[in-house]
Amino acid sequence: MMTNTINREIQLASRPNGLPTQSNFKLVKKELPPLQDNEVMVRNLFMSVDPYMRGRMNEGKSYVPPFEIGKTLEGGAVGEVVESRAKEFKVGDAVSSSFGWREYFISSPKSLHPVSRAIQPLSVYLGTLGMTGLTAWAGLNLVEVKSGDVIYISGAAGAVGSVAGQLAKLRGCTVIGSAGSMEKVKFLREECGFNAAFNYKTGPILEQLKLAAPEGIDVYFDNVGGQALEAALSVMRLHGRIIACGGISNYNNTKPQPGPANLFNMTTKRLTMKGLIVMDWLDRQNEFEKEVAGYFREGKLKHKETVVEGIDKAVDAFIGLFQGENMGKMVVKLF
Ligand SMILES: NC(=O)c1ccc[n+]([C@@H]2O[C@H](COP(=O)([O-])OP(=O)(O)OC[C@H]3O[C@@H](n4cnc5c(N)ncnc54)[C@H](OP(=O)(O)O)[C@@H]3O)[C@@H](O)[C@H]2O)c1
Repeated sequence: MMTNTINREIQLASRPNGLPTQSNFKLVKKELPPLQDNEVMVRNLFMSVDPYMRGRMNEGKSYVPPFEIGKTLEGGAVGEVVESRAKEFKVGDAVSSSFGWREYFISSPKSLHPVSRAIQPLSVYLGTLGMTGLTAWAGLNLVEVKSGDVIYISGAAGAVGSVAGQLAKLRGCTVIGSAGSMEKVKFLREECGFNAAFNYKTGPILEQLKLAAPEGIDVYFDNVGGQALEAALSVMRLHGRIIACGGISNYNNTKPQPGPANLFNMTTKRLTMKGLIVMDWLDRQNEFEKEVAGYFREGKLKHKETVVEGIDKAVDAFIGLFQGENMGKMVVKLF
């Protein structure tokens, strides 16, 4: 007799106040029901933890609905089909989905996206060739980053930043990055080919940015907000462009923070600041995959990741994003 699969998954136990803690989450065991016709069972090999999930843990409407207390969290995942009663998939197929934060799940085929096993490790589909890679690519296209631009990227050693910087280099830009440790700075300079990189924790961002870009910058790729945004506004050149991608320095604030004191630079320098939401770019996914997977296969683009093992470590991995514990994409290996 076949036994049903016991699944471990992570639920939101309470809404975090400030930096999330373990007590905001609960690991639960659930028995999966037998598979029905036109259903597929997937074992997740890797799941993603992402800064945007912090926003979904708050109450209130945003561009994605909030997570609900007592419900299993969701997010990017890549796994393999272990049982199929649907014609679209067979056992062994690799798929990506939005059913992360769990070891196994049952789904209809239309919620699954087939991915090629020819590209390894499969976690690349959560990073360079997945949502964060698409974000990096979309950001550069959003403000038409071109050869000769001087671009500054904050959060540069993370998933989005490290790909954005490498893609900007491939476009012929001068690339400057900031990150939170000397090890990350070394990674940016030596492995990602950044022209300059600095540690924002060891001195004022503005001073370090002025040293790295004495003639100013044309583009700022903002992953961080706060002081990095303020510094960038100060050194932008006339008609500079800002990609408003993220503001991780503010995600755990319990009180709203004042905006940049020097916002009037927008006017005097005729700047443009454009908001980016990666979901708006899904219709260009094929174009992205063709271009970026090409660079990846040719060895022109490095996929860096930090791998944490086991679903019982997924919450630590998530909290670690806000403590700079990852270099490249933070992923959780489940099997
Ligand atoms: N708009 C969109 O559609 C979209 C899509 C994906 C991601 N994003 C945003 O893009 C940004 C990067 O995302 P990601 O997935 O690539 O994450 P990530 O950069 O791989 O991971 C987060 C990194 O943020 C840095 N960080 C944490 N707290 C910070 C603080 N208080 N000040 C400055 N830096 C801090 C840490 O690096 P350090 O060691 O350098 O501090 C950490 O490693 C996030 O803001 C995210 O929300 C936006």
